[in-house]
Amino acid sequence: MRHHSTFRQLEIFEAIARLGSFTRAAEELYLTQPTVSMQMKKLADYVGVPLVEQVGKKIQLTDAGRELAQACRDVFGIMDRFTMSMAERQGLKKGRLALVAVSTAAYFAPRLLGEFARLYPGIEVSLKVTNREQVLASLADNLADLYILGQPPDEIEVVAEAFMCNPLVVLAAPDHPLAGQKDIPLARLAQEPWLLREPGSGTRMAVERLFAENGLELRPRMALGGNEAIKQAILAGLGISVISTQALVLNPPGQFAILDAQGFPICRQWYAVYPAGRQLSSVSRTFLDYLLQQDRSLSTCAVP
Ligand code: PGA
Repeated sequence: MRHHSTFRQLEIFEAIARLGSFTRAAEELYLTQPTVSMQMKKLADYVGVPLVEQVGKKIQLTDAGRELAQACRDVFGIMDRFTMSMAERQGLKKGRLALVAVSTAAYFAPRLLGEFARLYPGIEVSLKVTNREQVLASLADNLADLYILGQPPDEIEVVAEAFMCNPLVVLAAPDHPLAGQKDIPLARLAQEPWLLREPGSGTRMAVERLFAENGLELRPRMALGGNEAIKQAILAGLGISVISTQALVLNPPGQFAILDAQGFPICRQWYAVYPAGRQLSSVSRTFLDYLLQQDRSLSTCAVP
């Protein structure tokens, strides 16, 4: 038979599907662009229908392309597990671990990964940091091995393991009139101008839920993309916000006021999550066990 698809072609296609670009796929795989184009043409000939279409400057997958991308991920997942199980026979912890975490996890995940990488030098870890909505989209598409977020999703059936406490506090500038007051009622907080995280943020969702449950509405002054932007806006006197204490670990004490408000801290947990029914690779299992053994001092809900 003249036409057949090779493992290499599937690898190239998977990279194109993931990165949305022939050029970036070529870069990632250290191939030239003509090689990538030629291999993709052969693959499309084999399948018999187009796999990608050009929309302006962007590449989009056709329905057939999307199905093939999923098949590639399945095949590579099986091959990864095979490689890991072969390595394990030789007593080695070896393989790849792809993590996707919500943005607030960026303050502690790299430190955890650093130690993990020292313990298991044969495991290659990648970490993508984005907001909750994007993490859930990756989970739905099965793009990573484990997902770290502040609350397990309702929409997707998952196994969720809590590994660390995540207190959310009300943050204000140190000279804010409410700083130093005790037991501030939620209704009083609701009158302040609020700085909210971008839609899709898990932190924002938790704050909105607390106020809604108490029949209160927030007065949003501004929405900002990310914890650092929120902190800067607070210091600029634009309003108050809610933030995870983990996002404050690098700030000197006294730089902000943590308000003593009713209903706070919101005691959330950090969860490592994976789709229900999925058999974890031994590398994922190793990382999950490592997370669950974390220093218990990290898991108290004490607020600084
Ligand atoms: P966020 O998520 O970074 O999207 O706000 C944090 C969380 O889910 O607790």
